[in-house]
Amino acid sequence: MAEDSVKSEAPAQQKNENGENKSSQKAVSSNGEAENQTLSKRQRKKLLKQQKWEDERELRKQRRKERKQQRRLQRQDDEGGDGQSFRKRPRREVTPSSLRMVVDCSFDDLMLIKDVRKLHKQIQRCYAENRRALHPVQFYLTSLGGQLKQSMDEKDKGWVNWKDISIKTEHYSEVVAKEDLVYLTSDSPNVLEELDQKKAYVIGGLVDHNHHKGITFERAKELGIEHAQLPLSSFIKMNSRKVLAVNHVFEIILAYLEKGSWQEAFVTVLPQRKGAVAVDQDGTNAQEKEEEDSDSDSEPDATEQLEKRA
Ligand SMILES: C[S@@+](CC[C@H](N)C(=O)[O-])C[C@H]1O[C@@H](n2cnc3c(N)ncnc32)[C@H](O)[C@@H]1O
Repeated sequence: MAEDSVKSEAPAQQKNENGENKSSQKAVSSNGEAENQTLSKRQRKKLLKQQKWEDERELRKQRRKERKQQRRLQRQDDEGGDGQSFRKRPRREVTPSSLRMVVDCSFDDLMLIKDVRKLHKQIQRCYAENRRALHPVQFYLTSLGGQLKQSMDEKDKGWVNWKDISIKTEHYSEVVAKEDLVYLTSDSPNVLEELDQKKAYVIGGLVDHNHHKGITFERAKELGIEHAQLPLSSFIKMNSRKVLAVNHVFEIILAYLEKGSWQEAFVTVLPQRKGAVAVDQDGTNAQEKEEEDSDSDSEPDATEQLEKRA
Protein backbone atom coordinates (compact mmCIF):
# COMPACT_ATOMS: atom_id res chain seq x y z
CA MET A 1 0.00 0.00 0.00
CA ALA A 2 1.21 3.50 -0.83
CA GLU A 3 0.76 4.61 2.76
CA ASP A 4 2.80 1.73 4.14
CA SER A 5 5.53 2.05 1.60
CA VAL A 6 5.92 5.71 2.45
CA LYS A 7 6.10 5.02 6.16
CA SER A 8 8.51 2.14 5.82
CA GLU A 9 11.19 4.52 4.70
CA ALA A 10 13.13 4.62 7.98
CA PRO A 11 15.13 7.73 8.58
CA ALA A 12 18.45 7.20 6.86
CA GLN A 13 21.37 6.60 9.13
CA GLN A 14 24.09 9.09 8.59
CA LYS A 15 27.37 7.66 7.46
CA ASN A 16 30.84 9.03 7.64
CA GLU A 17 33.32 8.84 4.79
CA ASN A 18 34.28 5.26 5.80
CA GLY A 19 30.69 4.15 5.56
CA GLU A 20 30.35 3.72 9.35
CA ASN A 21 27.13 4.76 11.04
CA LYS A 22 27.65 8.15 12.52
CA SER A 23 24.86 7.57 15.03
CA SER A 24 26.89 4.87 16.79
CA GLN A 25 30.14 6.66 16.28
CA LYS A 26 31.73 8.16 19.37
CA ALA A 27 34.90 10.12 19.30
CA VAL A 28 37.42 8.36 21.60
CA SER A 29 39.98 10.44 23.34
CA SER A 30 43.55 9.31 23.91
CA ASN A 31 42.58 8.04 27.38
CA GLY A 32 39.65 6.04 25.94
CA GLU A 33 36.78 8.23 27.20
CA ALA A 34 33.79 8.62 24.87
CA GLU A 35 33.10 12.17 23.85
CA ASN A 36 29.35 12.31 23.26
CA GLN A 37 29.69 15.99 22.73
CA THR A 38 31.01 15.36 19.21
CA LEU A 39 27.44 14.79 17.96
CA SER A 40 25.83 17.99 16.79
CA LYS A 41 22.33 18.95 17.93
CA ARG A 42 20.96 17.97 14.51
CA GLN A 43 22.65 14.57 14.62
CA ARG A 44 21.33 13.89 18.13
CA LYS A 45 17.84 14.75 16.95
CA LYS A 46 18.20 12.41 14.02
CA LEU A 47 19.47 9.64 16.28
CA LEU A 48 16.51 10.04 18.60
CA LYS A 49 14.12 9.97 15.68
CA GLN A 50 15.71 6.79 14.43
CA GLN A 51 15.48 5.15 17.84
CA LYS A 52 11.80 6.12 18.06
CA TRP A 53 11.24 4.62 14.60
CA GLU A 54 12.91 1.36 15.68
CA ASP A 55 10.93 1.26 18.95
CA GLU A 56 7.65 1.65 17.11
CA ARG A 57 8.34 -1.01 14.51
CA GLU A 58 6.18 -3.62 16.25
CA LEU A 59 3.38 -1.12 16.79
CA ARG A 60 3.34 -0.26 13.09
CA LYS A 61 3.28 -3.94 12.16
CA GLN A 62 0.32 -4.47 14.47
CA ARG A 63 -1.55 -1.49 12.97
CA ARG A 64 -0.96 -2.76 9.44
CA LYS A 65 -2.36 -6.14 10.44
CA GLU A 66 -5.45 -4.49 11.93
CA ARG A 67 -6.06 -2.40 8.82
CA LYS A 68 -5.72 -5.47 6.60
CA GLN A 69 -8.17 -7.37 8.80
CA GLN A 70 -10.61 -4.46 8.66
CA ARG A 71 -10.44 -4.34 4.88
CA ARG A 72 -11.06 -8.09 4.67
CA LEU A 73 -14.13 -7.78 6.90
CA GLN A 74 -15.42 -4.83 4.86
CA ARG A 75 -15.04 -6.87 1.66
CA GLN A 76 -16.92 -9.79 3.17
CA ASP A 77 -19.68 -7.38 4.22
CA ASP A 78 -19.92 -5.95 0.70
CA GLU A 79 -20.09 -9.42 -0.78
CA GLY A 80 -23.01 -10.36 1.41
CA GLY A 81 -20.95 -12.81 3.39
CA ASP A 82 -21.20 -15.63 0.85
CA GLY A 83 -18.35 -14.52 -1.39
CA GLN A 84 -20.85 -13.54 -4.11
CA SER A 85 -20.31 -9.91 -4.97
CA PHE A 86 -23.54 -8.01 -5.29
CA ARG A 87 -24.27 -4.75 -7.11
CA LYS A 88 -24.83 -1.77 -4.86
CA ARG A 89 -26.73 -0.08 -7.69
CA PRO A 90 -29.81 -2.09 -8.63
CA ARG A 91 -29.65 -3.09 -12.29
CA ARG A 92 -32.17 -1.10 -14.28
CA GLU A 93 -34.28 -2.65 -16.97
CA VAL A 94 -32.47 -1.70 -20.17
CA THR A 95 -34.58 -1.34 -23.32
CA PRO A 96 -32.50 -0.49 -26.38
CA SER A 97 -33.96 2.19 -28.62
CA SER A 98 -34.21 1.70 -32.38
CA LEU A 99 -33.22 5.34 -32.88
CA ARG A 100 -29.85 5.78 -34.60
CA MET A 101 -27.29 8.39 -33.62
CA VAL A 102 -24.45 9.09 -36.01
CA VAL A 103 -21.30 11.06 -35.23
CA ASP A 104 -20.11 12.35 -38.60
CA CYS A 105 -16.29 12.42 -38.47
CA SER A 106 -15.83 13.89 -41.96
CA PHE A 107 -14.42 17.21 -40.68
CA ASP A 108 -11.09 15.76 -39.58
CA ASP A 109 -8.92 17.94 -41.83
CA LEU A 110 -10.56 21.14 -40.51
CA MET A 111 -9.30 20.56 -36.98
CA LEU A 112 -6.03 21.13 -35.20
CA ILE A 113 -4.72 18.10 -33.37
CA LYS A 114 -5.63 19.62 -29.96
CA ASP A 115 -9.25 19.86 -31.09
CA VAL A 116 -9.15 16.36 -32.54
CA ARG A 117 -8.10 15.16 -29.08
CA LYS A 118 -11.08 16.98 -27.57
CA LEU A 119 -13.38 15.38 -30.09
CA HIS A 120 -11.87 12.00 -29.24
CA LYS A 121 -12.75 12.55 -25.56
CA GLN A 122 -16.24 13.64 -26.46
CA ILE A 123 -16.75 10.48 -28.52
CA GLN A 124 -15.46 8.36 -25.64
CA ARG A 125 -18.01 10.07 -23.46
CA CYS A 126 -20.84 9.37 -25.95
CA TYR A 127 -19.83 5.72 -26.08
CA ALA A 128 -19.67 5.36 -22.31
CA GLU A 129 -22.98 7.17 -21.74
CA ASN A 130 -24.69 5.01 -24.33
CA ARG A 131 -23.36 1.84 -22.68
CA ARG A 132 -24.98 2.79 -19.38
CA ALA A 133 -28.15 4.36 -20.77
CA LEU A 134 -31.59 3.03 -20.01
CA HIS A 135 -32.46 3.26 -23.71
CA PRO A 136 -29.17 2.98 -25.58
CA VAL A 137 -29.32 4.16 -29.18
CA GLN A 138 -27.86 2.46 -32.26
CA PHE A 139 -24.56 4.29 -32.29
CA TYR A 140 -22.60 4.95 -35.51
CA LEU A 141 -19.26 6.62 -36.10
CA THR A 142 -18.84 7.37 -39.79
CA SER A 143 -15.96 8.66 -41.94
CA LEU A 144 -13.48 7.58 -39.28
CA GLY A 145 -9.91 8.15 -40.40
CA GLY A 146 -7.12 10.73 -40.38
CA GLN A 147 -6.06 12.42 -37.17
CA LEU A 148 -8.99 11.12 -35.12
CA LYS A 149 -8.25 7.49 -35.89
CA GLN A 150 -4.59 8.14 -35.17
CA SER A 151 -5.50 9.64 -31.79
CA MET A 152 -7.73 6.66 -30.99
CA ASP A 153 -4.99 4.21 -31.99
CA GLU A 154 -2.43 6.04 -29.89
CA LYS A 155 -4.44 7.01 -26.81
CA ASP A 156 -7.10 4.35 -26.48
CA LYS A 157 -6.24 1.14 -28.32
CA GLY A 158 -9.23 -0.52 -26.61
CA TRP A 159 -11.61 1.19 -29.03
CA VAL A 160 -11.28 -1.77 -31.42
CA ASN A 161 -13.14 -3.84 -28.80
CA TRP A 162 -15.97 -1.35 -28.30
CA LYS A 163 -19.34 -3.06 -28.27
CA ASP A 164 -22.72 -2.00 -29.62
CA ILE A 165 -21.31 0.58 -32.01
CA SER A 166 -20.87 0.57 -35.79
CA ILE A 167 -17.60 2.19 -36.76
CA LYS A 168 -17.31 2.94 -40.46
CA THR A 169 -14.80 4.59 -42.73
CA GLU A 170 -17.69 5.37 -45.12
CA HIS A 171 -19.66 8.62 -45.14
CA TYR A 172 -22.99 8.45 -43.27
CA SER A 173 -24.88 8.90 -46.54
CA GLU A 174 -23.49 5.54 -47.68
CA VAL A 175 -24.49 3.85 -44.43
CA VAL A 176 -28.02 5.17 -43.82
CA ALA A 177 -30.84 5.75 -46.31
CA LYS A 178 -31.08 9.45 -47.14
CA GLU A 179 -34.74 9.73 -46.18
CA ASP A 180 -33.95 8.49 -42.66
CA LEU A 181 -31.32 11.13 -41.98
CA VAL A 182 -31.83 14.25 -39.84
CA TYR A 183 -28.79 16.46 -39.37
CA LEU A 184 -28.77 18.14 -35.96
CA THR A 185 -27.41 21.63 -36.35
CA SER A 186 -27.93 24.81 -34.36
CA ASP A 187 -28.14 26.80 -37.63
CA SER A 188 -31.23 25.00 -38.89
CA PRO A 189 -34.46 27.05 -38.85
CA ASN A 190 -36.35 23.85 -37.97
CA VAL A 191 -36.83 23.07 -34.32
CA LEU A 192 -36.89 19.46 -33.20
CA GLU A 193 -40.05 18.68 -31.27
CA GLU A 194 -40.15 14.92 -31.01
CA LEU A 195 -37.69 12.14 -31.73
CA ASP A 196 -38.63 9.65 -34.41
CA GLN A 197 -37.42 6.14 -33.56
CA LYS A 198 -37.11 5.34 -37.26
CA LYS A 199 -34.68 8.18 -37.97
CA ALA A 200 -30.91 8.50 -37.79
CA TYR A 201 -29.85 11.77 -36.13
CA VAL A 202 -26.46 13.04 -37.22
CA ILE A 203 -24.11 15.11 -35.05
CA GLY A 204 -21.20 16.94 -36.64
CA GLY A 205 -17.96 15.50 -35.24
CA LEU A 206 -16.37 18.88 -34.97
CA VAL A 207 -14.61 20.92 -32.30
CA ASP A 208 -14.13 24.24 -34.04
CA HIS A 209 -15.01 26.94 -31.47
CA ASN A 210 -17.56 27.85 -34.14
CA HIS A 211 -14.88 28.99 -36.60
CA HIS A 212 -16.74 27.03 -39.24
CA LYS A 213 -20.12 28.49 -38.42
CA GLY A 214 -22.94 26.93 -40.38
CA ILE A 215 -20.80 24.22 -41.99
CA THR A 216 -23.03 21.31 -40.97
CA PHE A 217 -26.17 23.19 -42.01
CA GLU A 218 -24.62 23.80 -45.44
CA ARG A 219 -23.60 20.15 -45.79
CA ALA A 220 -27.11 18.95 -44.87
CA LYS A 221 -28.65 21.29 -47.45
CA GLU A 222 -26.16 20.18 -50.13
CA LEU A 223 -27.07 16.57 -49.49
CA GLY A 224 -30.77 17.38 -49.42
CA ILE A 225 -31.44 15.76 -46.07
CA GLU A 226 -33.62 16.90 -43.17
CA HIS A 227 -32.08 19.11 -40.52
CA ALA A 228 -33.17 20.52 -37.16
CA GLN A 229 -31.88 22.30 -34.10
CA LEU A 230 -32.54 21.18 -30.53
CA PRO A 231 -35.48 23.04 -28.92
CA LEU A 232 -33.21 24.84 -26.46
CA SER A 233 -34.93 28.25 -26.61
CA SER A 234 -38.33 26.82 -25.74
CA PHE A 235 -37.13 25.24 -22.53
CA ILE A 236 -34.07 27.02 -21.23
CA LYS A 237 -32.34 30.35 -21.30
CA MET A 238 -28.60 30.24 -21.69
CA ASN A 239 -26.02 32.91 -21.13
CA SER A 240 -23.74 31.31 -23.72
CA ARG A 241 -23.97 30.26 -27.38
CA LYS A 242 -26.49 27.57 -28.26
CA VAL A 243 -23.80 25.60 -30.06
CA LEU A 244 -23.21 22.56 -27.92
CA ALA A 245 -20.40 20.03 -27.80
CA VAL A 246 -20.92 16.67 -29.51
CA ASN A 247 -21.27 14.72 -26.27
CA HIS A 248 -23.80 17.19 -24.86
CA VAL A 249 -26.05 16.79 -27.89
CA PHE A 250 -25.67 13.01 -27.70
CA GLU A 251 -26.40 12.92 -23.96
CA ILE A 252 -29.42 15.22 -24.35
CA ILE A 253 -30.92 12.73 -26.81
CA LEU A 254 -30.25 9.84 -24.40
CA ALA A 255 -31.74 11.81 -21.51
CA TYR A 256 -34.81 12.74 -23.56
CA LEU A 257 -35.35 9.07 -24.44
CA GLU A 258 -35.23 8.29 -20.73
CA LYS A 259 -37.19 11.19 -19.26
CA GLY A 260 -39.50 12.16 -22.11
CA SER A 261 -38.95 15.85 -21.28
CA TRP A 262 -36.65 18.23 -23.16
CA GLN A 263 -36.40 20.54 -20.20
CA GLU A 264 -35.32 17.78 -17.86
CA ALA A 265 -32.89 16.51 -20.48
CA PHE A 266 -31.30 19.94 -20.93
CA VAL A 267 -31.06 20.70 -17.24
CA THR A 268 -29.61 17.27 -16.47
CA VAL A 269 -27.03 17.27 -19.22
CA LEU A 270 -25.88 20.83 -19.67
CA PRO A 271 -23.04 21.53 -17.28
CA GLN A 272 -23.49 24.16 -14.60
CA ARG A 273 -20.84 26.30 -16.29
CA LYS A 274 -22.94 26.45 -19.46
CA GLY A 275 -25.27 29.00 -17.94
CA ALA A 276 -28.49 27.13 -18.67
CA VAL A 277 -31.57 28.48 -16.93
CA ALA A 278 -34.72 26.39 -17.05
CA VAL A 279 -37.72 28.43 -18.15
CA ASP A 280 -40.89 27.97 -16.10
CA GLN A 281 -44.32 27.69 -17.69
CA ASP A 282 -44.90 31.35 -16.87
CA GLY A 283 -41.69 32.32 -18.66
CA THR A 284 -39.64 33.05 -15.53
CA ASN A 285 -36.30 31.44 -14.77
CA ALA A 286 -36.57 28.32 -12.66
CA GLN A 287 -32.97 27.40 -12.20
CA GLU A 288 -29.74 29.26 -12.63
CA LYS A 289 -26.48 27.87 -13.88
CA GLU A 290 -23.16 29.34 -14.86
CA GLU A 291 -21.26 29.62 -18.15
CA GLU A 292 -18.96 27.27 -20.06
CA ASP A 293 -17.38 27.15 -23.49
CA SER A 294 -19.26 24.62 -25.60
CA ASP A 295 -16.10 23.11 -27.03
CA SER A 296 -14.63 22.48 -23.62
CA ASP A 297 -12.69 19.26 -23.20
CA SER A 298 -12.92 19.35 -19.45
CA GLU A 299 -14.66 15.99 -19.28
CA PRO A 300 -12.77 13.30 -17.38
CA ASP A 301 -11.68 10.16 -19.19
CA ALA A 302 -15.28 9.20 -19.35
CA THR A 303 -15.03 5.79 -20.94
CA GLU A 304 -13.06 4.41 -18.07
CA GLN A 305 -15.08 6.11 -15.33
CA LEU A 306 -18.50 5.32 -16.65
CA GLU A 307 -17.62 1.78 -17.70
CA LYS A 308 -16.51 1.17 -14.13
CA ARG A 309 -19.79 2.52 -12.79
CA ALA A 310 -21.88 0.51 -15.26
C1 LIG B 1 -19.36 22.01 -31.60
S1 LIG B 1 -20.71 21.77 -32.66
C2 LIG B 1 -20.01 22.16 -34.24
C3 LIG B 1 -20.39 23.51 -34.72
C4 LIG B 1 -20.13 23.68 -36.18
N1 LIG B 1 -19.66 25.03 -36.46
C5 LIG B 1 -21.35 23.40 -37.04
O1 LIG B 1 -21.55 24.09 -38.03
O2 LIG B 1 -22.10 22.45 -36.74
C6 LIG B 1 -20.86 20.01 -32.76
C7 LIG B 1 -22.13 19.47 -33.32
O3 LIG B 1 -23.15 19.38 -32.32
C8 LIG B 1 -24.41 19.55 -32.90
N2 LIG B 1 -25.07 20.69 -32.23
C9 LIG B 1 -24.50 21.60 -31.43
N3 LIG B 1 -25.41 22.47 -30.95
C10 LIG B 1 -26.60 22.09 -31.47
C11 LIG B 1 -27.94 22.59 -31.34
N4 LIG B 1 -28.21 23.65 -30.58
N5 LIG B 1 -28.91 21.95 -32.01
C12 LIG B 1 -28.65 20.85 -32.77
N6 LIG B 1 -27.41 20.34 -32.92
C13 LIG B 1 -26.40 20.94 -32.28
C14 LIG B 1 -24.21 19.78 -34.37
O4 LIG B 1 -24.38 18.57 -35.04
C15 LIG B 1 -22.78 20.25 -34.41
O5 LIG B 1 -22.19 19.99 -35.66
